[in-house]
Amino acid sequence: MNDKINILSIESSCDDTAAAVISDGFVLSNVIANQEIHKQYGGVIPEAASRAHQANIIPVVHQALMKAKIAKENITAVAYTRGPGLLGSLLVGSSFAKAFALAMNIPLIEINHMQAHILSHYILEDEKVPPAFPFLCLTVSGGHTQIVLVKDYFVMEIIGETTDDAAGEAFDKIAKTLGLPYPGGPFVDKFAKLGNATRFQFTHPNVPNYDYSFSGLKTAVLYLVRDGIKADSDFIATHLNDICASAQKTIVDILIKKLKKAAKDLNINEIALAGGVSANSGLRNAMLQLGADNGWRVHIPKFEYCTDNAAMIGIAGYIKYLKNDFSTQDVAAKARLSF
Ligand code: KG4
Ligand code: ZN
Repeated sequence: MNDKINILSIESSCDDTAAAVISDGFVLSNVIANQEIHKQYGGVIPEAASRAHQANIIPVVHQALMKAKIAKENITAVAYTRGPGLLGSLLVGSSFAKAFALAMNIPLIEINHMQAHILSHYILEDEKVPPAFPFLCLTVSGGHTQIVLVKDYFVMEIIGETTDDAAGEAFDKIAKTLGLPYPGGPFVDKFAKLGNATRFQFTHPNVPNYDYSFSGLKTAVLYLVRDGIKADSDFIATHLNDICASAQKTIVDILIKKLKKAAKDLNINEIALAGGVSANSGLRNAMLQLGADNGWRVHIPKFEYCTDNAAMIGIAGYIKYLKNDFSTQDVAAKARLSF
């Protein structure tokens, strides 16, 4: 074990406490503690998230080391999410990582969460071909929706982003309107599979360039449901599958349209997907179809690397380690952190 580069990585930017061990780019363990507490509120409560991270961080790291069958003395460096995210949540992970690095006298590596989502494509797996530079990455999560031009591992340019709600936020808010639990994206996905996607029509937003907007769709679904219930108190139950299918199709169509335009304008046919919403089956299928139709090489992450996880922080940390790109104890966690 000792001749390998073993990265312990910590992710705590939102409501998942996660730790992983990455050895020479391969995942040895990838542990996530989800915080159930937020379900009852229909969204993440920052104060509750910080407290849950405090309770989870030591057991999660312990489990990651146990699963990887590696002693803490054999960890080469520790990588952590510096931002963006909820500050109280970030502080738990960053404080732990700093203390671990100091105690073990090993290098500390800071990671940008959004870059890590993209770099999850470089997690080594047998027979997986990672994206070649330059490529376009559609990064879609609960907090972000971006088209990123990735020129190198850490040379990334956001060429388009949402002007209001993120795609994941749209899924979650629509789910809330339909009375589904938080986070609602996976539920919308599940019911959409059973519905007719052309049953309800929603207009597309009119935003320039490669930017997005999803707040109009959220409101359109709210009005559809409000008016529907006036005429039929069982409106949601009767039409749940069709509303989910129609709303999901609209989100996917909006996402794909701008991505297609960017790929054409920049003449790039290497396309990747990242972030929690890349777990969506409608989006995954649409991307694969688009790849087949346009001759793109499409890269879709494994399910476990779509939503927040520490393996993606670990692979980003491994790449930084190889570049001798280390952090220091005085670097502060940041809620807003650009590339
Ligand atoms: O990347 P992520 O785990 O956390 C953030 O950094 O935000 O993304 C979480 C988002 C949530 O909005 C969740 O509803 C959405 O990803 N999501 C999905 C699916 N799985 C997770 N949205 C649609 N379909 C899914 N299958
Ligand atoms: Zn994320």
